[in-house]
Amino acid sequence: MKTGMRVPENQPLDSGRILILDYGSQYTQLIARRVREAGVYSEIHPFDLGMDALQTFRPSGIILSGGPDSVKDGTAPAVPDAVLELQVPLLGICYGMQALAQKLGGVVQSSSEREFGYAEVEVSQDDELLGGLARPGEALKVWMSHGDRVESLPSGFKSIAVSGNSPLAAMADSSRKIFGLQFHPEVTHTQHGQLIIERFVRDICGCPPLWTSANIIAEHVEQAKEKVGSGRVLLGLSGGVDSSVVAALLHAAIGDQLICVFVDNGLLRLNEGDQVIDTFNRHLGLNVIRVNAERGFLEALDGVADPEDKRKIIGRKFIEVFEAEARKLKGVRWLAQGTIYPDVIESAGAATGKAHVIKSHHNVGGLPEHMDLKLIEPLRDLFKDEVRKIGVELGLPSELVQRHPFPGPGLGVRILGPVTKEYADLLRQADDIFIQELREEGLYDQVSQAFVVFLPVKSVGVMGDGRHYEYVVSLRAVETVDFMTAGWARLPYDFLDKVSRRIVNEISGISRVTYDISSKPPSTIEWE
Ligand code: XMP
Repeated sequence: MKTGMRVPENQPLDSGRILILDYGSQYTQLIARRVREAGVYSEIHPFDLGMDALQTFRPSGIILSGGPDSVKDGTAPAVPDAVLELQVPLLGICYGMQALAQKLGGVVQSSSEREFGYAEVEVSQDDELLGGLARPGEALKVWMSHGDRVESLPSGFKSIAVSGNSPLAAMADSSRKIFGLQFHPEVTHTQHGQLIIERFVRDICGCPPLWTSANIIAEHVEQAKEKVGSGRVLLGLSGGVDSSVVAALLHAAIGDQLICVFVDNGLLRLNEGDQVIDTFNRHLGLNVIRVNAERGFLEALDGVADPEDKRKIIGRKFIEVFEAEARKLKGVRWLAQGTIYPDVIESAGAATGKAHVIKSHHNVGGLPEHMDLKLIEPLRDLFKDEVRKIGVELGLPSELVQRHPFPGPGLGVRILGPVTKEYADLLRQADDIFIQELREEGLYDQVSQAFVVFLPVKSVGVMGDGRHYEYVVSLRAVETVDFMTAGWARLPYDFLDKVSRRIVNEISGISRVTYDISSKPPSTIEWE
């Protein structure tokens, strides 16, 4: 397993750090990801972070996100004095630009013509942020989403972009290095959006592009080594992307001090257990204990119909099995978990999104106190795409790294109502056919998540001359960026036809296949 190049000495990976102040935009996480794609470390914090926290963070530059408020509203979040007092480069995006303009003495008004979606702007040629991104007389295609607009610039600023609706679609004060964009460079619909972010963080803020997969691995390996010392680390390996990357990373750091426990709970996909053991044990040489706990899980779930009850039982059972394994081992001092940055942001409420908890999404229902293990979460500061990249760099098969997410409770929440082995076996086969066909047709990577749901109702079918009375399944495939909202995937009819015929013909016990055409919201991705 390769660990990549070392970080240059005296130059910590986060020596250029960008702070993103969150004003509640749905795109805030995207800004942080784009900055990191530019090779620069970034973190999201609430817009009203105090001076002490700002100084501790030591940002090389600050980006103020968009947000749903109107600066015209007296109670709307403003730009704190501390942000200006730091005297680092600032970039305000949408609401962030309006808040900066207002704070610095400009005028913001609600615009009679709101701009949502696609728009065109003409950019100044001599500006360090936008200059040359479109040829003179040609438009830069951008993504807008605003009702208010800046009507008059604060002193020291000039307009650096003009849209049909707004003569001040972007502003700059190059002496103080303060910039504002009315459009969103972080969304892919904005032409050269990534380049704009790169120019800001690299050229204007002067951050070196050190945040690369190889460097991230090298630094995280060092940190893990130092933290763990000589103790042993236990990891619940699920075969999902996050726990797999934790396994590979910790193995690179501490070798055989890492012990992975893979629990077969009877709610996994077809042949999943064998695949996980094959990959981690045989190919990567990790120490993996496989526990067959199907019977215990199914007994505990017997007759339980409520989805949240099922989730809790599965979580509790998982801990029980895990604890039993931990007791058999000596010298285990750490428990590793695959927590990633979006989990941290969401649970800390740092992103001021007001999302409600609709389902309790926990693979492990928390750390049992009497286990007396310390927690190690090496992916805590990484986004999913970064996790995937370092997974590949660490030598994990790309098929595993690019896998669709699979919920901790597994097929337990894809069998509606009470779970039985019969249902799980039928569902596993149907799911396998669907996924096989998606891969075969090159559609797997085009959808964000695909699976089959088992409906424990019987429907009439006719096969040969016989009347069959068998179960129904539903195929589900969605397209989404963040899994918070999702649209159903427009899979080709012929493809759906093939999957449906294979399922009904090959699986005795299923006589009808449906396709779920609900989007999230109002539906959720999983059925339970
Ligand atoms: P929903 O169904 O809430 O799903 O739209 C959003 C994403 O979360 C996954 N999911 C879970 N993941 N434990 C998990 O680890 C859970 O209990 C759980 N429930 C849903 C779901 O597969 C989708 O990717």
